Amino acid sequence: MSRSPVIAIDGPSGSGKSSTSRGVAARLGLRYLDTGAMYRAMTWWLLRQGVDVHDAAAVAARVDGPEILSGTDPLGPTIMVDGIDVGLAIRSDEVNAAVSPVSAVPEVRARLVELQREAIGDGGIVVEGRDIGSVVAPDADVKVYLTADAAARAERRAAEAGARDVEATRDSLLARDRIDSSRAASPLVMAEGAVHIDGTAYTLDEVIDLVVSLVEARETVS
Ligand code: DC
Repeated sequence: MSRSPVIAIDGPSGSGKSSTSRGVAARLGLRYLDTGAMYRAMTWWLLRQGVDVHDAAAVAARVDGPEILSGTDPLGPTIMVDGIDVGLAIRSDEVNAAVSPVSAVPEVRARLVELQREAIGDGGIVVEGRDIGSVVAPDADVKVYLTADAAARAERRAAEAGARDVEATRDSLLARDRIDSSRAASPLVMAEGAVHIDGTAYTLDEVIDLVVSLVEARETVS
């Protein structure tokens, strides 16, 4: 394996992708890219511009508008839109509700995939998303498809958001999954060559250990 590995971690919302990806990157001294944050940043900007996010043509016409910059330190990742730090704003209910239709627009994906490939550059990075192993970096050195059962995912998301209504969180998460998995453009799928980890019964540290051991195993064979 190259000295600058690319590690792709895909899976549905709340499966523990972010914590796992950041933990793996920190442990191995790699950078970290949260591609979901980029789709959220685009959505935040479109909403602010008053664009109807359900009008795919209107969305497609504006994709070159915002400057989106991702900071890739796993201990403090950042996301900026036109120089504004939107790290908190992109987690709002408004963005949660609009991000799936925006992500389904092929022109949005084309622009963001280009930025993601630029950020990946020569590697040395853990990249999390939905289509990293299948579309963004099909040659990734290690591909993981991380899932957890719906109850575990809803509990995790509700705790992160400080939300009391776990059931409402679960419904919104499952609604997003349905759109993300059934859209025509780069749906959430398990990439060829990916290792499926169901994290339901494991602690975060155990999942990180598992992914690190996959990376180390690749290093020994190549
Ligand atoms: O991982 P997340 O929940 O922050 O992602 C937000 C949305 O972005 C999710 O509904 C699907 C979309 N997304 C995508 O389509 N492709 C990616 N590589 C990452 C996220």
